[in-house]
Amino acid sequence: MSEGRVLNVGIIGAGRIGRLHAEHLAFRIPEATPLMIADPFEEAARKCAERCRIPHTVPDYHAVLENPDIEAVLICSPTHTHAQIIQEAAAAGKHIFCEKPIALDLGDIDRALEAVEKARVKFQVGFNRRFDANFRRVRKAIEEGEIGQPHLLHIISRDPSPPPLEYIKVSGGIFLDMTIHDFDMARYLIGGEVEEIYAAGGVMVDPAIGEAGDIDTALVVLKFANGVIGTIDNSRKAVYGYDQRVEVFGSGGAIRVENNYPNNAIISDAQSVHRDLPLHFFMDRYIESYVEELKAFVDAVLNDKPVPVGGEDGRMAVVMGLAAWKSYRENRPVRL
Ligand SMILES: NC(=O)c1ccc[n+]([C@@H]2O[C@H](COP(=O)([O-])OP(=O)(O)OC[C@H]3O[C@@H](n4cnc5c(N)ncnc54)[C@H](O)[C@@H]3O)[C@@H](O)[C@H]2O)c1
Repeated sequence: MSEGRVLNVGIIGAGRIGRLHAEHLAFRIPEATPLMIADPFEEAARKCAERCRIPHTVPDYHAVLENPDIEAVLICSPTHTHAQIIQEAAAAGKHIFCEKPIALDLGDIDRALEAVEKARVKFQVGFNRRFDANFRRVRKAIEEGEIGQPHLLHIISRDPSPPPLEYIKVSGGIFLDMTIHDFDMARYLIGGEVEEIYAAGGVMVDPAIGEAGDIDTALVVLKFANGVIGTIDNSRKAVYGYDQRVEVFGSGGAIRVENNYPNNAIISDAQSVHRDLPLHFFMDRYIESYVEELKAFVDAVLNDKPVPVGGEDGRMAVVMGLAAWKSYRENRPVRL
């Protein structure tokens, strides 16, 4: 990090993810300070500000963009607001960390990325799982040829329970809200682009999810340009908790990462050998990855380094999500 300089940050959106980032900036990243938090739901902003000792709260994010002391913003508002705020933040000369997905429409994404390019500000997308120690180890194994030439990739990514229906209705559906993390993980681990996607899916968890226009269970087949074949296995409800596993099989072996647990106790009795359930959801399982992604963003801004996850990564994951929806609806493989 640069000699003692501290990055002043504004946070836009004080919901689930905005609060998490605010805590990390306040308590875990000494190189940054949250200076202002904006949310039209003022109670949320105020509570978060009190907890994280943020000096200013505002209902309207424009006050964040107009504050000359703020160098960087975190966009943590709902997805449909991201593209507009990115354009305004870039025009105001702020460096930007934006939660996934950038937007649900490629035209909106392109306009936002053009604004970023024009303003020459840093732009990082919140694909936090790239910063998870397990997945980083898998990437390293592939990069360094520890398992030879990769042939097959399997990602299992199942949530413990579905989000509220109100969220599902505006989220872009499973492929743009949930699988989007796995699409990015697939590109990151293999280090190459996907050429073709086939998605099968269904409503098996809750008919209300189907009535809201979404599915809750999916299996996606990916064909990479370099020949690797991959699968992504999603469910919005695993009764045993958050199930996040990966295996890559190659010419020289395989690498596998298992779930993370709150402890490593194994209990053996007369009937079975068992253990406690895995860490319950993303706030528990991926907490360290959220800290690491923000540290990387702060470092990129303070020391003028490239961001580790950029606009093109954010865009490609949406391209893949849209292709998966097309494949599911038309029941055929879709070329990207
Ligand atoms: N990376 C991840 O793992 C992860 C996890 C959860 C959510 N997200 C993403 O983060 C974003 C927010 O999700 P969430 O779960 O925190 O939602 P949320 O509904 O809990 O919070 C959103 C907050 O934004 C506020 N808001 C609405 N319009 C605003 C505006 N114009 N300016 C400022 N604030 C505004 C709302 O009042 C609310 O408090 C979504 O894009 C979501 O996809 C990413």
